[in-house]
Amino acid sequence: MNLHNTKKCYSILRFFCYFICLAYLTCCCYAAPRIIGGFPVTIDRYPSLVQVEFRSLFAQTWSQSCAANILNEKYVLSAAHCFFGLFYSPALRRIRAGTTYRNSGGSVVEVEREFNHPTFGQNGADGDITVVRLAGYGLEFNPVIKPVYVVHPQSVIPDNQPVIHAGWGTTELGTASDVLRDVTVFTVNREICRERYATLEEPLPITENMICAGLLDVGGRDACQGDSGGPLYFGNTLIGVVSFGEGCANATFPGVSTSVGPYVQWIQSVAF
Ligand SMILES: *[C@@H]1O[C@H](CO)[C@@H](O)[C@H](O)[C@H]1NC(C)=O
Repeated sequence: MNLHNTKKCYSILRFFCYFICLAYLTCCCYAAPRIIGGFPVTIDRYPSLVQVEFRSLFAQTWSQSCAANILNEKYVLSAAHCFFGLFYSPALRRIRAGTTYRNSGGSVVEVEREFNHPTFGQNGADGDITVVRLAGYGLEFNPVIKPVYVVHPQSVIPDNQPVIHAGWGTTELGTASDVLRDVTVFTVNREICRERYATLEEPLPITENMICAGLLDVGGRDACQGDSGGPLYFGNTLIGVVSFGEGCANATFPGVSTSVGPYVQWIQSVAF
């Protein structure tokens, strides 16, 4: 028996399992977040919000699959799970800015590279945040392409406050939205949110770096598939980046966003 070969075989298997698990997480868990229960709006209301288009490896077509928030001309802020996965390459992502319409209009800019937070992948969806550097000169600002107001790192958002998601993700009709939509939800106490997510068959950790929001025990309003990486606003201020949820707009399980506050220093060190 050739032990070395066996070992090598196991390590290749482990390697494959690892990637299949990552691909599964990317496709099946993280794909959850769309705007459910919202209304159409135009891009002038959210000029810092951009589409993240994915190029399909097989069809070679581009399609909006995530969203991001403009930090400055060269950098946008999104969810790490949108810039990650088995076949991920920056060449398979691009940004569309300054348009209300999904996959059309505005300006398109290529992605140079992503800086996924170093803790991403270590504890469930914790650290699901990325700073993305755009190619060339990046974005040119105008009335519908502007930087976002980022939350102050020490600010604490109380429970039950109205907050807003916006995006082009799946609506209650089950398909992506042709136009930008927004929806108002309310911040949910983190302990309650943690308890809810702990009841799942495969419990998901709710960490201090996450903000839960929805209509608790009511449901019907949420971000969903295709809204990932997009904003959770408190007023005009970006406080969260859409990360995941148990389904969408579920009464029991609020939507979960990555809290931007704990990452402000890191964002500044990467993007400014
Ligand atoms: C909410 O999520 C739970 C757990 O996945 C599921 O059993 C339940 O059917 C969902 N509720 C609705 C209304 O979709």
